[in-house]
Amino acid sequence: MLVHGPIEVTLDDGRRVTSDRAVTALCTCGLSRRYPFCDTSHRRRLDNRPAARSSVPVFHGNEMLNTGQQQPVTKSALPQARGPLSTAVLATLCGSTDAPCSSEISAVDIEQADPYGEDLQLALHCCYELHYRGFAGVLDDPVADDLEWNPGLLGLRRQMEQVFLAALRTDVPGGTDVTTEINALLVEVVDASGVSHYLRRVGQLWQLREYIAHRSIYHLKEADPQAWVIPRLSGPAKAALVTIEHDEYGAGDPQRMHAHLFADMMTTLGLSPRYGAYLDAAPAATLAEVNFMSLCGLHRQLRGALVGQFATVELTSSAGSDRLVQAMHRLGCNPASIRFYAEHIEADAVHEQLVRRGVIAPLLAAEPGLAGDVVFGIQASTVLADRFSDLLLSRWAAGQTTLRTPL
Ligand SMILES: [Fe+2]
Ligand SMILES: [Fe+2]
Repeated sequence: MLVHGPIEVTLDDGRRVTSDRAVTALCTCGLSRRYPFCDTSHRRRLDNRPAARSSVPVFHGNEMLNTGQQQPVTKSALPQARGPLSTAVLATLCGSTDAPCSSEISAVDIEQADPYGEDLQLALHCCYELHYRGFAGVLDDPVADDLEWNPGLLGLRRQMEQVFLAALRTDVPGGTDVTTEINALLVEVVDASGVSHYLRRVGQLWQLREYIAHRSIYHLKEADPQAWVIPRLSGPAKAALVTIEHDEYGAGDPQRMHAHLFADMMTTLGLSPRYGAYLDAAPAATLAEVNFMSLCGLHRQLRGALVGQFATVELTSSAGSDRLVQAMHRLGCNPASIRFYAEHIEADAVHEQLVRRGVIAPLLAAEPGLAGDVVFGIQASTVLADRFSDLLLSRWAAGQTTLRTPL
């Protein structure tokens, strides 16, 4: 019998035993030599000696495998191209060419592409999505899945990443003072003008729904980009990061996975929770924030930047989530809609401490040379968050939609 959480068991003779495991297996058959804990003594025994053959039990399969709970993996549909780079990537994803080659796409196209523009950001998004779920398209799944390691796509991705990274490095102040960067994130500016401030004060329901459609590009795969960094860390930093990720993934309960809570919220607000449903609607500013996470997650060289990016989210999310809960109360949203952001007020108050003391501090103690990368991760995330925020607030101020196709 599986019991979640630390437990204390009182035995028949009054002795007390404890387990501090996240999940403990208790013996219910009485055969365990480690009673009350299970030691798998309940297993069927198979005796292969000839004399024992007649008594071999029939194995009926593993009753622990409950396939009835399996959910089909939903993939994003292929988006519409937004320029030459995304056209080249999508041609490969559709199977109309083996790889985006130099005849279709020139080095000049890549170098002169707007690093924050629609075309490059969508092309990057498509390259990265191959490492998550891939696309539902015209190709058979085995062929489509193998595109993850298509050399032409990987080569093009690398060139586009260099353009994106070069722009970000130009646009951040830089430095190596992690403490100052973190302290700045820990200050709540009372009259700040971000999106959550706007939504709390005066946002309307259509604006909240647009915001959630943008955010679905990340939150329907919440915590996945940061999972790439786990094998790139070691010791206490790794243990603390996994503790945060465990929480993001519902601490063993799929119904509590943050991505699942987000999908539930979308449904209650009349939005489609289908993975990738708003990809065509999402502008470059939305894709760029998620692309930066994937970029840092997929490059071991950028592990410090990924930690900086994660810290930026975790340090600012609790207060921002609180503002969004207030916005949703003001707009009369039902309690089921509010659960995702309500959960983040408390969860990220914990994650904030874990990421600062548990991840960043031991990471920099072990690898002090990563300080500049952590700072870069924080500053670049902030640059991209500001671009996203500026787009939404300027469009809303003009009474316009912030999506490429209105809801
Ligand atoms: Fe979360
Ligand atoms: Fe979190």
